[in-house]
Amino acid sequence: MNYRRCGKSGLLLSEIALGFWHNFGDGSDPDVCRSIVECAFDNGVTYFDLANNYGPEPGSAERNFGRILKDSLSSHRDEIVVATKAGHLMWPGPYGEWGSRKSLMASIDQSLERMGLDYVDIFYSHRPDPDTPLEETMQALVDIVRQGKALYVGISKYPPQMAAAAYAYLKEQHVPCLVYQGKYNMMLRSQEDEIIPQAAANGVGYVAFSPLNQGLLTDRYLNGIPEGSRMTHSQFLTSASLTPEYFGMMEELRRQALEQGCTIAQLALRWILRRPEVSSVIVGASSAEQLRQNLKAVER
Ligand SMILES: NC(=O)c1ccc[n+]([C@@H]2O[C@H](COP(=O)([O-])OP(=O)(O)OC[C@H]3O[C@@H](n4cnc5c(N)ncnc54)[C@H](OP(=O)(O)O)[C@@H]3O)[C@@H](O)[C@H]2O)c1
Repeated sequence: MNYRRCGKSGLLLSEIALGFWHNFGDGSDPDVCRSIVECAFDNGVTYFDLANNYGPEPGSAERNFGRILKDSLSSHRDEIVVATKAGHLMWPGPYGEWGSRKSLMASIDQSLERMGLDYVDIFYSHRPDPDTPLEETMQALVDIVRQGKALYVGISKYPPQMAAAAYAYLKEQHVPCLVYQGKYNMMLRSQEDEIIPQAAANGVGYVAFSPLNQGLLTDRYLNGIPEGSRMTHSQFLTSASLTPEYFGMMEELRRQALEQGCTIAQLALRWILRRPEVSSVIVGASSAEQLRQNLKAVER
């Protein structure tokens, strides 16, 4: 594993991080979950990316991760970067989502309790809130750090103007934004125009999520929709993506991967890691074998 400095901070992140959005909820096989996390750590992955609402049920990914951490990795806490987020719908009523101080303060306490931790390494505002003053959300992040509940803070999916204001506010409060988390892969390149250069110019690291476009940038769907695949159970990935253009692009990618002696997924991950502004790439996996294959992307 290689480790990259996250922006202008002291923190190094593993080039590949493990994400808990899917496959770690209560419906998932606990043994498979454990094997994925252990495979990650044994291969040098130190950054584990969670959020309050990951499940299903919301919260269950944090609870299940906490259990694995306690059973398998408790003596390694200082070798691990645990990140969580708040902003998407988590609990009923007006305070269970978005970016109010009320919501963020409650959410970090809930997350720490679910994971059995005293602090997280990174706490993110998961999405911009168009109605809460940005200063309120940012000040809550600052106070969460000052209370010792998080070591660093980050933002996710903020448009450039709000990101600029967030960077400025946090810098002024001496809790600089560590990291911007955005969706970036071979099929979705809009972040290249502003977000990635802006993060770099502000000394903020950039972390890419859904680097395989939820499995589309692998061989997963080349021969139909496999049973149990994300496309069979997630509202976020549907067969509408499987167009003739998609298969045409995959044919070309398959040819290039073959030429380079790697898989399509490894090619897609290496393509993101070519950019020095990228601090880490957060992959998802439904098995340790998938993760093991993807980790080979960093070998070259
Ligand atoms: N900040 C945000 O708003 C936000 C949003 C989304 C995600 N994220 C973060 O980013 C993480 C990763 O997102 P993602 O899960 O969409 O990432 P991804 O790496 O693009 O997709 C992961 C999925 O691709 C398939 N896959 C992975 N490796 C494969 C391989 N070698 N061969 C075949 N299929 C393979 C698996 O699908 P199957 O399940 O079908 O096997 C796996 O679940 C999340 O867990 C979360 O931590 C953040």
